[in-house]
Amino acid sequence: MANDQLRNDQLKEKAARASLQFVQNGQVVGLGTGTTATHFIKLLAEEVGKGLRIRGIPTSTRSRDLAESLGIPLTTLDQCQDIAVAVDGADEVDPKLRLIKGGGGALLREKIVASASRQLVIVADGSKQVPILGRFPLPVEVIRFSRALVAKRIAALGAQVQLRTEADGKPFLTDENNYILDCHFGEIRDPEALARHLSDMPGVVEHGLFIGMASVVLLARDTEIVELRR
Ligand code: 5RP
Repeated sequence: MANDQLRNDQLKEKAARASLQFVQNGQVVGLGTGTTATHFIKLLAEEVGKGLRIRGIPTSTRSRDLAESLGIPLTTLDQCQDIAVAVDGADEVDPKLRLIKGGGGALLREKIVASASRQLVIVADGSKQVPILGRFPLPVEVIRFSRALVAKRIAALGAQVQLRTEADGKPFLTDENNYILDCHFGEIRDPEALARHLSDMPGVVEHGLFIGMASVVLLARDTEIVELRR
């Protein structure tokens, strides 16, 4: 790992560690997806090893496999629809705690789990804090059948739209077998309006704007953890 990347990864781990204080014995915990959430899952597994009693609901097959391999007891949304706290990463966080998520392709299950959680704790390194959302391309999960039509409609809103692909050039498939369109909007001046537009488009399954969902954001900087609350 290059030095900058290593430093960044250490900050992600620091943020993930700070989120452990939000997890209490007996709770059902949403397990996010991504490199920062991976740190959280590993640290949580250590706490489980020391006697913490929780059950996890993972937001992706990747996080489920990791949590299972580390011995974290799991449950499902079928069995439990009331999650005490979910801990997840983010691609961007603005001053109103509005988020862009989905860089790791798990935004649909992440949003479902977040919506069932009494608290959503976001863990990130300080570089994810932005004054205005939109530098990071907004991921939009779409039904495969609708891909071209939705791409055209989102382009008409002013974005450059790219189908997410794997290294071999094949389209990336989400855990629900959908496609992701990465939409380069530049500055998103009115995230609420854009979220409404996208939700109203037939063929859009979910978009990566998480508005009014995060209760706490923990941003790790070199010397401190900045805690933002809504
Ligand atoms: C996955 C996500 C991730 O939480 C987001 O992409 C941040 O990832 P990382 O912690 O690797 O920077 O939304 O769908």
